[in-house]
Amino acid sequence: MSIPLSRPDIGDAEEQAVLEVLRSGIVAMGPRTQAFEEAWAEYCGVRHAVFMANGTVAQEAVLRALDIGAGDEVITVSFTFNATASVILQVGAKPVFVDIREEDFGIDPDLVEAAITPRTKAIMPVHLYGLMPDMDPLVEIAQRHDLVIIEDAAQAHGARYKGRRAGQFGPTMFSLYATKNLMTGEGGFATTDDDLLADRMRLYRSHGMRQRYFHESLGTNFKPTDIAAALGLAQLPRLDERTEQRRRNAARLTAGLEGYLTPGVPDGREHVWHQYTMRFPGGERQQVIDGLTERGIGTLIYYPKPIHRQDYLQSYLPGAAEQSLPVSERLTEEVLSIPVRPSLTDDELDTIIRAVRDVATPVAELKTGAAEGDGGGDASDASSPAGRWDRGGSRAAGAEGDGGGEASTVGAGSPA
Ligand SMILES: Cc1ncc(COP(=O)(O)O)c(C=O)c1O
Repeated sequence: MSIPLSRPDIGDAEEQAVLEVLRSGIVAMGPRTQAFEEAWAEYCGVRHAVFMANGTVAQEAVLRALDIGAGDEVITVSFTFNATASVILQVGAKPVFVDIREEDFGIDPDLVEAAITPRTKAIMPVHLYGLMPDMDPLVEIAQRHDLVIIEDAAQAHGARYKGRRAGQFGPTMFSLYATKNLMTGEGGFATTDDDLLADRMRLYRSHGMRQRYFHESLGTNFKPTDIAAALGLAQLPRLDERTEQRRRNAARLTAGLEGYLTPGVPDGREHVWHQYTMRFPGGERQQVIDGLTERGIGTLIYYPKPIHRQDYLQSYLPGAAEQSLPVSERLTEEVLSIPVRPSLTDDELDTIIRAVRDVATPVAELKTGAAEGDGGGDASDASSPAGRWDRGGSRAAGAEGDGGGEASTVGAGSPA
């Protein structure tokens, strides 16, 4: 039996939609791109969505449209996919890393204010695995310091915080990479409520051209194809149904894996379960990976090395690796994503549950215990992992879904 971590959900509607584009004679950016943009803006409850070649360049376009560049700083996290930080470097600005909270893998708002300098222009939270971080304090800090919030919602299509969808807190990027909850192979959206910003992003996407071959500003080619747009348009009507399925799958996993460190959902948040990410402390993660792999179950570590420790970064931010981000550093040693995708059957979910129970030690039996190491745990935490994860929050069961990463044992392309 093989249960891959991810598998693009492509059915008749997608095939038909792409075939129509191929037969229409317009395969580059055209009417389907416009229709997809309108549909996504409506879904997110924002005025504008600009579709681009991928999420990385969409985020770069956001930064450029905001005039963020040399001399500016953007506060973000290190526990994320590299693109979050590399786009900041691409525009000549400096990523400033703060640590995350264990219970939601998101930026810790309590640490943001201390990272603000006169050069800070924006805060870029990442909705990792499909769960938004605690946005209220971020909004309050941003308002007080006149900063813009730029959401990295690459993994969080349709996620909500206190009823507000991802995309409603500031300019936002969504990735549509092959394994994402909404996917077009490669693709990305930049969304905003600001007309001027949207116009600047559109111009940047197309070499600064409003009128053909008249270039009013410096731009580049970040355009998508109508083939990708057609694929996305065919997927969108089923996004909510697929998210619900992810939620049901997450709830089943959580119920079946009681006693292990399963992901929780703080009150007021709707997770879209891009990834279902467990934690295996006590140094047994590799053994779990090996055991699940032997049983044909796909897993992936999102992410095995925090950005501030990546080799390439050291020449851009000398000394970055010495920064202490204890939660990010510890979680990179512990996290492991297991399948939660909508196409899983109950039998497959139960197989996954049995396999994890076979190969992993319940947290209460771990010698070192998950409660050690972060200053937040105590003896009762170790025997009650749910309590640790969900400080003030509800369990995933019956709540919401997951978010997070990319390709795994299935050939969906290279991980992003
Ligand atoms: C958190 C995060 N940010 C940015 C990106 C970049 O998006 P893309 O792969 O579409 O360029 C990804 C992609 O996986 C991501 O997961």
